Amino acid sequence: MSSSSAPCILVIGATGNTGSSVVKYLSDLITLLPSTIDQPRHIIALTRNAKKPTAIELSKLDHVEVQELDLSSVDSSWLIAKNVVRVYVATPNQTSQFVDESQFLLVCKEAKTIQYLVKLSTNPHFIAVDHPIYYGRIHWALERMLEEKEFKEQVNWTILRANVFATGILSPSIEMWKKDKNKPMALLLDEHSPLALVHPADVGAVAAKLLSLTDPSPHFHKTYTISGPEDVTGKDIVSYVEEIVQKKIDVEYKNEKVFKTVMESDKYPDNVWKSMEKGHKKNLWTGQSRLANTKTSDEVVRLAAPHSTVKQTIQHALQGYLSF
Ligand SMILES: NC(=O)c1ccc[n+]([C@@H]2O[C@H](COP(=O)([O-])OP(=O)(O)OC[C@H]3O[C@@H](n4cnc5c(N)ncnc54)[C@H](OP(=O)(O)O)[C@@H]3O)[C@@H](O)[C@H]2O)c1
Repeated sequence: MSSSSAPCILVIGATGNTGSSVVKYLSDLITLLPSTIDQPRHIIALTRNAKKPTAIELSKLDHVEVQELDLSSVDSSWLIAKNVVRVYVATPNQTSQFVDESQFLLVCKEAKTIQYLVKLSTNPHFIAVDHPIYYGRIHWALERMLEEKEFKEQVNWTILRANVFATGILSPSIEMWKKDKNKPMALLLDEHSPLALVHPADVGAVAAKLLSLTDPSPHFHKTYTISGPEDVTGKDIVSYVEEIVQKKIDVEYKNEKVFKTVMESDKYPDNVWKSMEKGHKKNLWTGQSRLANTKTSDEVVRLAAPHSTVKQTIQHALQGYLSF
């Protein structure tokens, strides 16, 4: 099958934590491209529901077309028909993640038209065949697939290994606390262990930069780490909250209840929670993911250095909700 469409960049997970920022940054970067340069200027943002607010917001951006389609329905004929030449792929950590993402990688290989693919992976410390966290093992397997010659010879890729997301760790705690500010804030973090939390929008900025390069080849078959700009502890987070709300708050550190509740409401099976629990003890409560152990790659710093601070994330999460 041949295509008559203009070459485009496909964003999988476009309405999500990182994908939405990939689309926004790409839209701006494409606008700035000199007209003489020959590279894709059209973005397809994939969603299962084009009517959701984030999808509507994305559809208003320059160069963006929102397409309502389930990832499982994307096949090589569709990629060829749409003239997809570059891809961002971020799939949620659901139990079907390996099936969903590995199937999509096979489709990209089969299409033979994908010139460049940027894959979001997870925290570098989780990428191990024997890691307790189930999605560490999923990303390990997906990364191994890309490393094999069947893929490496067919698809040019860059893997982005991102540290723990600031929003993912803080939002559930802050949202629950906002409902009852007299209760202690339940924080998953340890009081003293440092962690270089990164904002997912900063991860999206790096992916967008890579996907908009005229010549991304220096980044082919490279794996980069992305951490936030600073280490924070649970105690730092509490002090930021107290500074913003201007009063002392009670807090329970290493409190897993909020996250267990979120996972239960999302209907994750029990064994998924057990795998997360072991992982937290090994990672979040030991300082394993602090900056010294999880340094942002120099290439990432040169492309789009992560800059969002945890204090800014907290300010945003508390905006408009406080009436002290
Ligand atoms: N959270 C962290 O701390 C962290 C840190 C580092 C790396 N990561 C990695 O980030 C990746 C996820 O990226 P993200 O956070 O940007 O994505 P995300 O926000 O979790 O999800 C992206 C999009 O996927 C779609 N989606 C949700 N459930 C789906 C399902 N059942 N089937 C098909 N599509 C579904 C949704 O879009 P629609 O509803 O619009 O279809 C959603 O907006 C994971 O692989 C994770 O390992 C996470």
